[in-house]
Amino acid sequence: MLQIDILTLFPSMFEGPMTESMLWKARDRGLLDLRLHQIRDWATTRHKIVDDLPYGGGGGMVLKPDILVPAVESVLDAAPSGTPVLLMSPQGQVFNHNMATWLAQQPRFVMICGHYEGIDDRVRQLVVTHEVSIGDYVLTGGELPAMVIVDAVIRHIPGVLGAEGGAERESHADGVLEGPQYTRPPVYRGVSVPQVLLDGNHGEIERWRRVEGLRRTWQQRPDLLRTAPLSEDEKYLLARFAEEDAKRRRA
Ligand code: ADE
Repeated sequence: MLQIDILTLFPSMFEGPMTESMLWKARDRGLLDLRLHQIRDWATTRHKIVDDLPYGGGGGMVLKPDILVPAVESVLDAAPSGTPVLLMSPQGQVFNHNMATWLAQQPRFVMICGHYEGIDDRVRQLVVTHEVSIGDYVLTGGELPAMVIVDAVIRHIPGVLGAEGGAERESHADGVLEGPQYTRPPVYRGVSVPQVLLDGNHGEIERWRRVEGLRRTWQQRPDLLRTAPLSEDEKYLLARFAEEDAKRRRA
């Protein structure tokens, strides 16, 4: 059972995604305990104020440390020391497959969704263990990034994907992309399904899938090949793709 605590000013934003499809299944099967916490519940003033003007001037408001730090501490309560506390932020490390599988192995973790202009940096200094971004663009809040991360993480909890298939062979699982997929009909608008898939020789199909996955990575995400663990066979294939490509260019 993975416990995820999310601190947000907009818990209702999570209602749709949390009650649909995979997330719902994970909760229903007792594999995920997802808890939403309203940051405003830790506000101490009558008007439940959670933010204030930035020191030094400038636009926007800043979430107050004397609300967020106690909120995180009370959510952590008796959590084991070392429990990850993630701050959703465009300044963080960019989230990827490895972080998703690592988080899926934790017994629990906490996510803080910022909003407005930002949060007082002392929150980061005092309670945040990891600052995480979902890409090099700025969103209006951390809620959508938190949902993206929860979705990517729970797919790696054993039993969540069930009959829909495992997460082992999909894109990014071994550093490269998955090859193309086909279903019936065998010919659609003049475009045929590759013969090897129709022939049904499983060894041949496996080999074809590995080659096409590698080809796709080479064409669409060559940056991944710098770090992917490749066999000698695969390195040979990459050299052949490059050769074929050079030949095509000369023709
Ligand atoms: N908050 C605003 N933009 C973000 C991003 N790209 N990733 C994570 N949190 C964010």
